[in-house]
Amino acid sequence: MSETMIGRLDDFEDEMARRIEIRGRVLAVVRLGDAVFAVDDTCSHAEASLSEGDVYVEEREIECPLHGSTFELVTGEPTCLPATVRVETYPTRVEDGDVWVTVP
Ligand code: FES
Repeated sequence: MSETMIGRLDDFEDEMARRIEIRGRVLAVVRLGDAVFAVDDTCSHAEASLSEGDVYVEEREIECPLHGSTFELVTGEPTCLPATVRVETYPTRVEDGDVWVTVP
């Protein structure tokens, strides 16, 4: 596991997702206020980029732009069909305004 600083919290637009590549992985990174979440960018159902989907703030979910499955940002679990498999999630932390993510 390796922790990487991916930018300043202020550089991430609130309530939006951004696609970030780290160590050969492509992540969808979502900022919700002072919290940041990171999940695999590729949907578990087919080839679609979750970072291009909508973010649901109250539910803490991201929606696949292709077929509309939503995934919990905390667990990566799908909350509606057609996706039935979770997407990987990655630990994040914010310290002194820097955003860190841990990937294998
Ligand atoms: S590609 Fe994401 S739900 Fe089908």
